[in-house]
Amino acid sequence: MNIGIIGYGSMGKMITEKLAFSDIIKPQEIYVSNRTQEKLEDVPEGVIACRSNREVAHKSEIVFLCVRPNDLRRVLLEIASNLKEESIVVSLNGSVPFHILGHSYFGKICKVIPSVTAEVDRSQTLLCCNELVEEEDKAKLREILQVFGNVIELPEEELGMGSELVSCMPGFIASIFDVLCSSAQKHTSIPKEQVVKMVLETMCATGELMLSKDMSFEDVVERVATKGGITEEGTKVVYEGFPEIADLLFEKTLEKRHLTAENAKASFEKEN
Ligand SMILES: NC(=O)c1ccc[n+]([C@@H]2O[C@H](COP(=O)([O-])OP(=O)(O)OC[C@H]3O[C@@H](n4cnc5c(N)ncnc54)[C@H](OP(=O)(O)O)[C@@H]3O)[C@@H](O)[C@H]2O)c1
Repeated sequence: MNIGIIGYGSMGKMITEKLAFSDIIKPQEIYVSNRTQEKLEDVPEGVIACRSNREVAHKSEIVFLCVRPNDLRRVLLEIASNLKEESIVVSLNGSVPFHILGHSYFGKICKVIPSVTAEVDRSQTLLCCNELVEEEDKAKLREILQVFGNVIELPEEELGMGSELVSCMPGFIASIFDVLCSSAQKHTSIPKEQVVKMVLETMCATGELMLSKDMSFEDVVERVATKGGITEEGTKVVYEGFPEIADLLFEKTLEKRHLTAENAKASFEKEN
């Protein structure tokens, strides 16, 4: 099974490297193309750098489109006649709905949203497929995507919130803990790097504790924040003040997501 990667930017490079160094596929079975040809000079050894997107499409059974939404339609139209009937096209962009993508290419299409945590093989990658994709195709895709973590299949209408929870969440978590560490800094002479390391290790260990012991957030709070104790003073502040901020966060990001999807749809419709 050959795999094609069109667009060798942040996502295309990450997927190429992860697959090339995995044991599920040989580097010689990976075909890559990019608009700016020079970027392909550093593809991993054995990976085939192609001079055109059409060549990638022609050679591959699964083709990852790792381009920005505005370039998606052009690439789809360009490669459509070079794809085999059974080929699976995978868009890394979640904003353009299947019925709009279908104006440019009528075949098996999936949307895949990885997280930056794929870098440490712990992505919670979202997978969403159109009705032409069969169970056998999904099994193949899962095998590939599991190279960089878990795979979660979602219906198209849940892809937005799903993306907030896995793809945006590293940014939300990082910003929340950045604020917490800056605040702690005001009350201690422990150096910043040490504060950050202490919090990060505790954060990771708390997640692992919850996952391995099947504990809920409430279980952890109950274990640590004994009635009338010091921790309870802090958790009370969080439960009283933070819900309003969390609601605002999702309100803003979902609104922006809706706007981005409308713009992406408009750019597809305008060009049709
Ligand atoms: N970054 C993330 O964390 C993330 C996470 C999940 C999903 N995504 C989605 O993944 C997609 C790619 O994002 P990215 O961050 O990887 O973007 P990026 O770094 O800008 O990479 C896009 C690549 O596509 C290439 N390209 C553009 N038009 C092309 C064409 N006609 N033929 C061949 N290559 C072409 C560009 O080539 P040049 O070198 O000429 O510019 C560039 O290398 C987006 O739809 C994004 O929404 C991103």
